[in-house]
Amino acid sequence: MKKIMVIHGPNLNMVGIREPGIYGKTGIDQINDEILAYAKGLGMSCEIFHSNHEGEIVDKIQQARGVFDGIVLNAGAYTHYSIAIRDAIAAIDTPVIEVHLSNVHAREEFRHVSVIAPVCKGGIYGFGKSVYLLALDAFAKMD
Ligand code: DQA
Repeated sequence: MKKIMVIHGPNLNMVGIREPGIYGKTGIDQINDEILAYAKGLGMSCEIFHSNHEGEIVDKIQQARGVFDGIVLNAGAYTHYSIAIRDAIAAIDTPVIEVHLSNVHAREEFRHVSVIAPVCKGGIYGFGKSVYLLALDAFAKMD
């Protein structure tokens, strides 16, 4: 059974309340329920973690090494400037899929840069909450 860790970064606990025109009206608890149900349907085990703090996300990525088969990471705003999170991803063999609810490339220029993209296996963005499920599909199909 594949073991997947889903990590939500800063302000993702505010989804549903926060800028619903961009991030959707579904709250994080419901998104998490959908992720867990979908993972179950794929025969995967899945753990979900949220933190607003960079160091806690670094800790979680390091701890996933050797324990999880993959990480789905929405690093929120840290995507655009956290070298610490990039280095944590680069330090482990565990594949990481970068996800974003919104199409970051259709938004402000500072969101067009992802410092984590070069060290991730791949990325999925712009499809709202489905990005988490699509990332689980990608892990299900990954050798
Ligand atoms: C986000 C996009 C980021 O630019 C932003 O800072 C977020 C959410 C997304 O899921 O679309 O917090 O990662």
